[in-house]
Amino acid sequence: MTLGAWDAQGVGAVVVGERRSIVGGNWKMNTDLAAAVELADNVVAGCQALLSECDVAVFPPFPYLQAVGRALGNHGLLLGAQDVYHQPNGAYTGEVSSAMLLDLNVQIVLVGHSERRHVIGEDNELVNTKVRASLESGLHVILCIGETLEQRQAGRTNQVNVAQLVAGLQGVGTEQMRQVTVAYEPVWAIGTGQTATPRDAVAVHRVVRRTIADLYDEDTAGSVRIQYGGSVTASNAADLFAEPEIDGALVGGASLEADQFMGIVRAAVES
Ligand code: 13P
Repeated sequence: MTLGAWDAQGVGAVVVGERRSIVGGNWKMNTDLAAAVELADNVVAGCQALLSECDVAVFPPFPYLQAVGRALGNHGLLLGAQDVYHQPNGAYTGEVSSAMLLDLNVQIVLVGHSERRHVIGEDNELVNTKVRASLESGLHVILCIGETLEQRQAGRTNQVNVAQLVAGLQGVGTEQMRQVTVAYEPVWAIGTGQTATPRDAVAVHRVVRRTIADLYDEDTAGSVRIQYGGSVTASNAADLFAEPEIDGALVGGASLEADQFMGIVRAAVES
């Protein structure tokens, strides 16, 4: 599979300490066909000039991937999927394989999003199976991790995030880590308007990076991008991105408005 311009400018070219930001718009179960295409058109128009300095991905609902992919054209934005199933094909009613996603020119996939874990009920083992299958197929993976409010209040933030990270990456080789981005999305910050402070986010990002260094090596840890997600808006993005530990954002609600989303991408470029 070829990643085109992204491969030339993106993860393949990451220099330790100079990680290229990546901003993703997770549209979740929102938009309809016409709104999805219009949003994609507007994001392309607004972001095109910024793509030399930042990777930008959109994650529309499955049924709109093809239409959104057409709207993205060859402008350099990444087409992403919100989930994937680990089996290549067969009797798995309702599921979508990485081969099907690749057929639609999907380049990047979310795995282990908090809504998959906490609403749909995915566990660490399934998340890991999906991570490995996606990487083997050539997709880039955003592995999402994050603690609930209860877990944070019980002082288990680091323990939970490390456990999700270690389990999610089990069996993933050092070379494959070039295809991996981690998104730290505290569950209590998602869709609540209660963004983590840059300080809180950085504290977890450091633990994530240290864990990757322990699992792999310092170079790998220095190259992996760690996004923050949870109520990121055009107004709070600059403060988050001012932290060198925060390599971009995974955006839900604010990615449904092209202006807001572009404001976040701009903040990433200016950081
Ligand atoms: P919000 O930006 O709506 O809080 O959602 C974050 C998220 O879950 C992105 O994957």
